[in-house]
Amino acid sequence: MSILTATATANANIALIKYWGNRDDLLRLPSNGSISMNLDGLFARTRVAFQSSLSQDLLILNGKKETGKALTRMVSFLDLVRCQANTDLNALVNSENSFPTGAGLASSAAAFAALSLAATHALGLELDEGELSRLARRGSGSACRSIPGGFVEWLPGVDDRSSFAISIAPPEHWDLVDCIAIVEPQPKTTDSTEGHHLADTSPLQSARLADTPRRLDICRQAILKRDFDALSAITELDSNLMHAVMMTSSPPLFYWQPSSLHLLKEIQDWRQHGLPVCYSLDAGPNVHVLSHGDAAAQVKDRLEKFPGVLQVLTAKPGGPAHLK
Ligand code: PMV
Repeated sequence: MSILTATATANANIALIKYWGNRDDLLRLPSNGSISMNLDGLFARTRVAFQSSLSQDLLILNGKKETGKALTRMVSFLDLVRCQANTDLNALVNSENSFPTGAGLASSAAAFAALSLAATHALGLELDEGELSRLARRGSGSACRSIPGGFVEWLPGVDDRSSFAISIAPPEHWDLVDCIAIVEPQPKTTDSTEGHHLADTSPLQSARLADTPRRLDICRQAILKRDFDALSAITELDSNLMHAVMMTSSPPLFYWQPSSLHLLKEIQDWRQHGLPVCYSLDAGPNVHVLSHGDAAAQVKDRLEKFPGVLQVLTAKPGGPAHLK
């Protein structure tokens, strides 16, 4: 029996300029470019073992055997890798998240980035960073941003070859911390793959897309110049724009909980009183609160005391996906 195996680790990421909507659903070509920060310590570690003895792919996620949607999605993804490697071997995939299961955090970015690296390595495919990022994109769009390290931009491209992510600054470039306030531990009811399909039904999406190059420029410059005020303004605007599109699509998607909104107002208040903080929300109710490293302990402390906050996770800028 032959076993081809590899293990890889990849961090989750928080989008500062969000990806919402696809130009091509199958290829996961995004309607707009996006920028994110990798989250150190919030990772998926995935072991892939291709074995001739397996009659089908198997997925164990945080110790539990998965069937249904999660398995089907992984099998379709592994088919892409098998096609590149010209093999029909099935795989046993064992993946663990470092962050608490059920914390309501999107884990597909870390999961598909780790799976891309582990699966290709196991089959002896030597892909460079751009090629890996392109592959990870096919599993979950935002996963392409979890391949490079630090602060990352996804170049939307016009086709499969030109749509991948690059690092615009390494993790040590800027001492930022993301304090993630968990207000709702349940998985979201509409996942982002379904959400992307609805984006174009909002009359606001075209305006959001038309203005995206401007926001990308401002965000990229703010990162390169370590300008927190500029980053705060553009990050909050971008998050609000995406949620406005979500709330006005058909059917509408409301990811915020009342405690999410209470926190947004509170964070604006803290900033007006001199604390360098800003917020961003992905497709869920949990609030990512970015701050300078030297303010992070205070931010975490305040968040932990805030009504409705169940738990606070913290992450500095993280490195690239890597083996083991
Ligand atoms: O990669 P997906 O399909 O899970 O989409 C991610 C969507 C957001 O998290 C809401 C935004 C983003 O850019 O990460």
